[in-house]
Amino acid sequence: MKLFALIGCPVHHSLSPLMHNDAFQSLGIHAHYHAFHVEPHMLKEAVQGLKALQCAGLNVTIPHKTAVMEYVDELDETAKQMGAVNTIVNENGKWIGYNTDGEGFVRALCEQMDVELSGARILLVGAGGAARGIYFSLLKHRVAAVDVCNRTVKKAEAFVVQQSSVYSLEEAEERVGEYDIIINTTSVGMYPHVDATPLSLRHVKKDTIVSDIIYNPLMTKWLQEAKEKGARVQNGVGMFVYQGALAFEKWTGIFPNTKRMEQLVIQQLG
Ligand code: ATR
Repeated sequence: MKLFALIGCPVHHSLSPLMHNDAFQSLGIHAHYHAFHVEPHMLKEAVQGLKALQCAGLNVTIPHKTAVMEYVDELDETAKQMGAVNTIVNENGKWIGYNTDGEGFVRALCEQMDVELSGARILLVGAGGAARGIYFSLLKHRVAAVDVCNRTVKKAEAFVVQQSSVYSLEEAEERVGEYDIIINTTSVGMYPHVDATPLSLRHVKKDTIVSDIIYNPLMTKWLQEAKEKGARVQNGVGMFVYQGALAFEKWTGIFPNTKRMEQLVIQQLG
């Protein structure tokens, strides 16, 4: 029996064990995925322990995504660029760190919303770790623009490349009508602060895609507003499922059934 693990703090609400164990079972793979609560000061010991146990693969979540980089043997280019690791693969004892968050978002966007990214004008709201991952993944596609707005403008300026514009939230609110896709990467609107919204959508165009990486609640107040304006909306379940599916593929070589994963997650959250 192969062991796969999630390390984070907290992890007790994580839906990853449910999703991965169901995929292992349905594919007949003899493996088990377990979530371990690891306090920040115990990260090194936890990693060493899992290495000693010959853990076959890991997911890493908040607050360890950056700190864990110190304990892997090799870093994939995307993880380096993002400054964060969410997936580790044990290749014959060598631990290799990857990041599937950004690509997970992009795959979910393309496949669930049937979007053509080439030529799209995109606005990212937020400039934290999630924003960075999504930003660099979007740039790999032939998008027309990925602009970033954030409460703290300097944080966005610190990672964007030349062709992107950076705005304050107030400036961006006036420009919302210029974009085909608008993505909230902040935690604003997440349970229990469900009445907050990250950015006014009063100027949003009909048929714009408005995507929120939050999945608790499934429908944030922001997405409700977007829907009322005639936008096409997507919640964060897709990103969660696809980042997991991409990790699963790195561990096993098999891309799992994302529809089944999504159903499980929604059932649990709904
Ligand atoms: P993550 O790594 O999950 O993206 P993070 O690095 O803490 O988390 O980033 C959180 C993002 O949410 C940031 O863009 C943050 O804005 P600041 O850079 O100005 O801190 C944004 N954010 C969090 N709370 C916010 C609030 N109440 N209003 C506006 N933006 C907020």
